[in-house]
Amino acid sequence: MEILDGKKISNQIKDEIAAEVAKMKENGEKVPHLAAIIVGNDGASLTYVGSKVRSCKRVGFESTLVQMPSTTSEVELLKKIKELNENSDIDGFIVQLPLPDQIDTQKVIMAIDPDKDVDGFHPTNFGKMALDMSTFIPATPFGILELLERYGVETQGKHTVVIGRSHIVGRPMSILMGRKGFPGNSTVTLTHSRTKNITQITSQADIIISALGVPKFLKAEMVKDDVVIIDVGITRVPDDTKEKGYYITGDVDFEHVSKKASYITPVPGGVGPMTIAMLMKNTLLARERHRSRK
Ligand code: GUN
Repeated sequence: MEILDGKKISNQIKDEIAAEVAKMKENGEKVPHLAAIIVGNDGASLTYVGSKVRSCKRVGFESTLVQMPSTTSEVELLKKIKELNENSDIDGFIVQLPLPDQIDTQKVIMAIDPDKDVDGFHPTNFGKMALDMSTFIPATPFGILELLERYGVETQGKHTVVIGRSHIVGRPMSILMGRKGFPGNSTVTLTHSRTKNITQITSQADIIISALGVPKFLKAEMVKDDVVIIDVGITRVPDDTKEKGYYITGDVDFEHVSKKASYITPVPGGVGPMTIAMLMKNTLLARERHRSRK
């Protein structure tokens, strides 16, 4: 069994990006600038956005954090998005999800300029991804592809089972793994909350990508020998014995499933850090596309 070490690979990617940024600086070019909007005080979202801003510093990007209260109206958020769309200093931005109930997430995503949509959530970018056109690939699926590629995990002709159909992970992942090329050329099954007999499906999988958010959902009895496991789940489980009052766990019963797996991602230290590295990569791409800007 080999660990797919997202922490290590994400550091390599960030080093590569930092080298690119250093070259830009030497040439007197403007460095990439990422902005992030966060609405409300959700603990996990604040942690993620904090990591994104820290990573910007680490690779030499400029960053802007826009914090808005949980009572923010849809109109106020749309106004802020318009400002960022029109601010030529900003190459890309994200709106951290989930948003409070009074805000229509689809409307917000539709308002983002597709050229600045470094999350790849806008329908224009999602459509381009599905049609194999050059675009921003959502950071978590992009990070999973990068891990599979850098470890040389064979995907061609394999049966990939994706668990969860979220717009951020499951749905795009199911499209990307079936695309021509490497990683890709898989035969894909997309499973979700209404899937019957999921064990019958997972036990036939060569590769399982789980993005469900149910701690230790995937058990050793549900997988075959030599399976490749990508665990996207990051759930905070309350635990008074921990300093933070919780511990982080994935969708996979790592202790037992890892004994059968050929490759497996740990939680934490697997997919999570890769997501942030690929957001940096998308921001670099956005900057390269906006080169005509000063
Ligand atoms: N919430 C959970 N994952 C993500 C992500 O990749 N991007 C944004 N904007 N919000 C998220």
